[in-house]
Amino acid sequence: MDKVLVARAAFPDIVDRLRAHFEVEDNPSDTVLDKAQLIARLQGKAGAFTTGSERIDAEVLAACPQLRAVCNMAVGYNNIDVAACTARGVIVTNTPDVLTETTADFGFALMMAAARRIAESEHYLRRGEWTKWHYDQLVGSDVHGATLGILGMGRIGQAIARRGALGFGMPVIYHNRSRLAPEIESALNARYVDKATLLRESDHLVLVLPYSAASHHAIGAVELTHMKPTATLTNIARGGVVDDAALAEALKARRIAAAGLDVFEGEPKLNPALLELPNVVLTPHIASASVATRRAMASLAVDNLIAALGCGPQAGRPPT
Ligand code: DGY
Repeated sequence: MDKVLVARAAFPDIVDRLRAHFEVEDNPSDTVLDKAQLIARLQGKAGAFTTGSERIDAEVLAACPQLRAVCNMAVGYNNIDVAACTARGVIVTNTPDVLTETTADFGFALMMAAARRIAESEHYLRRGEWTKWHYDQLVGSDVHGATLGILGMGRIGQAIARRGALGFGMPVIYHNRSRLAPEIESALNARYVDKATLLRESDHLVLVLPYSAASHHAIGAVELTHMKPTATLTNIARGGVVDDAALAEALKARRIAAAGLDVFEGEPKLNPALLELPNVVLTPHIASASVATRRAMASLAVDNLIAALGCGPQAGRPPT
């Protein structure tokens, strides 16, 4: 029987399905494994159930010659060196589709919270500062009818565009590696623009692009100066897509109005400057965190591991 590592705690009733096929080593204390711990735990393992917290790189692969499959419980897989895995013949899988709508719901909610100053208003109330209604109190910007900008128009980007276009009457502009088919653009009321136009015209800019060396700091100090001073920026992609220090500066100087951030450079640590600012809504990487979706992600990752190691009906499929 092959041995597999379940690198982080996950729903026990779902992960337990692996036990019918493999000898399972799990991590009930849910420690985030550093590289040395990961290498130690992967010794003799044919497969790994991972989350975005474990980094599988060439060094890990070299130290774990028996590894044949890495199945990530996440749609993002920037924690895995896919090229190095492919070169070694290690199958890599992710969990697309099952989290698209839940993540889009959250991205939209975060954008609305930033635009309408919801977290800031709640803190104001909790501090006991509300003494009277005032016409100018905590006024934000409208979402309905405003221009929705999307950087990265994959499944989640399109699901956010659909919410904006059909639910909130928003004209949608987007920038992406490739352009959508005309019928999809027209269904989403979406217009393809270059990045400069996206920055210049968006009232609410949402980042949904995958993280890679090419998208590192896609939004930095220069890009922020090109945005409207009334604009909001929402990041549900990956922390490294935004230069958080530059964003904190821009928010402080009110070069943009507000931000909603679910992901951070170096998370779970945050740039301390962000914590000082009233005009940013901060959440701990929970865009996919509904019970149903997290269960679906765990279940798909388990199915992928069973299939990838040849124990299931389908072969493991590469990330899409
Ligand atoms: C994903 O699926 O990539 C999420 O960011 C992890 O929760």
